[in-house]
Formats: sequence, C-alpha cells, structure tokens
Amino acid sequence: MSERRSGSYLHGTTPDEQARLSTLNDLLNRATMRELALRGGERIVDFGCGLCQLTREMARAARTRVAGIERSPQQIAEARRQAKEAGEEALLDLRQGDAQEGVPPGEEGSYDLAHARFVLEHVPDPLVVVRTMMRAVRPGGRIVLQDDDHDILRLWPEPGGMRVLWIGNDPYVGRRLVELLHAAGARPTRSTFLFFGACAGESTFALLVDNMASIVAGAREAIVGDGLLPASTFDAALDELRRFRDRPDGSIWYAVSWAEGTKP
Ligand SMILES: C[S@@+](CC[C@H](N)C(=O)[O-])C[C@H]1O[C@@H](n2cnc3c(N)ncnc32)[C@H](O)[C@@H]1O
Repeated sequence: MSERRSGSYLHGTTPDEQARLSTLNDLLNRATMRELALRGGERIVDFGCGLCQLTREMARAARTRVAGIERSPQQIAEARRQAKEAGEEALLDLRQGDAQEGVPPGEEGSYDLAHARFVLEHVPDPLVVVRTMMRAVRPGGRIVLQDDDHDILRLWPEPGGMRVLWIGNDPYVGRRLVELLHAAGARPTRSTFLFFGACAGESTFALLVDNMASIVAGAREAIVGDGLLPASTFDAALDELRRFRDRPDGSIWYAVSWAEGTKP
C-alpha cells in the first residue's frame, strides 16, 4: 500500500499488461472519440497517455500533433514502437514526465484540450493533476476526465469473492470528476457514462472478463504481498472470475465516468 501511495503504478508495464491496455483501447476508443467530438485543429495534451493509441486517434481526428505525458519509460517505448509500426510517429509529441507536474511553464495556457483517462485513480491526490490540466489549457479550453467508479460494476451472476477483490487506489474516483473540475477552478459543462459492459453471447464479453481478470491478477503481488488478503482467498476469487467468462447467462454492467469542463 505504502509503495502505491508513493506513486508506483499498480497495473505495471509487463507485455501482458500492455496487451490488456491495447485491447481496452480497441473496445473503448470509438465511444471516447464520439464523445470528444473534435472539430479539427485543436491543440491537445493527453495526461498519462500510456501506449498512446487514443492519443494517436485524437491526433488523427484533430489533424494535429498531440502532446502526451507519461511517467513510465516502458510505456513510452511501447507507445513509440506501436506508433512507428503504424507509420504515425509524427502524430505524437511524447514526453516522459509526471502528470502531477504537467506541461512546461512556456506551454501553460496554450492548449485547447487537456485529457486524462484512467489516470486519476492511480495518483494519491487527483486534484493535483486536474489543477495542472487547468494550467495547461487556455481560457475557454476544455478539460476532459474519464475514470473508473467500481461501485457501479455489476457482474451477474456474481462470481464468488468479487467483493473482497476491489482493494487499492481510489476505486470510486469516477463519481468525483465533476467535483474535481470545480475544485480546480473549471466550469463543469457535461457529465455522462460510457457503457463498457456486455453479456454472454456478445463477442466483447470474453474480452471484458479477461480484461478484468488480468487487472486483478496484476494486483496479486500488491494485495497478497501487502497482507490485504490471504493468497488462497485471492486465488480462489480470481479462479471464479476466470470461470465467469464461460457462463452462458453472464453479464457485465459497467460504465466509465466522463466529465468535462471549461476554463473560465
Ligand atoms: C490505465 S493506463 C491508461 C493509459 C491511457 N490514458 C489510456 O486510456 O489508454 C494509466 C497510465 O497512466 C500512467 N501514469 C500513472 N501515474 C502517472 C503519473 N503520475 N504521471 C504520468 N503518468 C502516469 C501509467 O504509467 C499508465 O501508462
């Protein structure tokens, strides 16, 4: 726990984890781009940009080079590899850095849009990041936050042990997004949910269960190692979650919290 508080990234950056992040992008990016409704020409900075699949989509839609701030050298290396493979290196202006510190002083107030997805749940004080996002945008510019609120996650019929597994970070930061925008001095303008579930019989169901199992498996060391759960309890819950994938009557009800605001 203490290591997480000091800023390590719970999910890690192994190739398996990077593959999970790529799949998640495949599933979510269309909905994200629809909601972003870029007009073209926007100057954009993506906080905690990870492997930059979404960063590149934003760049394609805006027809501009997009800045990405990412702390992990492993994520940056894989983001660069994927961009090169796609022939899209020119779309990215990638910087290794901390989202809590934001853009360099010379760029403050110059962006039309500051965006962060699945980042606020990984920092000890999300408001610090939202404030740096505010500093990055010009007056009238947009700040868009997307994050998890695990309280609205429903797996049904519920695999045994699920409730004890959701430990760590702030699993409910999604509900705080508008509050955070306001506290950082933005004028909140819109909130919504992006549906991110499926039922057995939809092709995305197995992918979503795998995504969830992979998140849980990746947190094993942090949870068991920190003594938050006995290994046997953790492993039994993870096994049940993996078996949930094969249920013909299974469904996942989930949504990503989305909030946006403008800088006065
Ligand atoms: C779940 S991933 C999401 C990546 C991307 N935003 C997306 O939606 O695909 C979270 C990313 O935030 C990065 N991250 C976590 N804390 C950070 C911080 N304080 N500064 C910069 N990046 C951070 C992690 O390394 C990871 O790549």
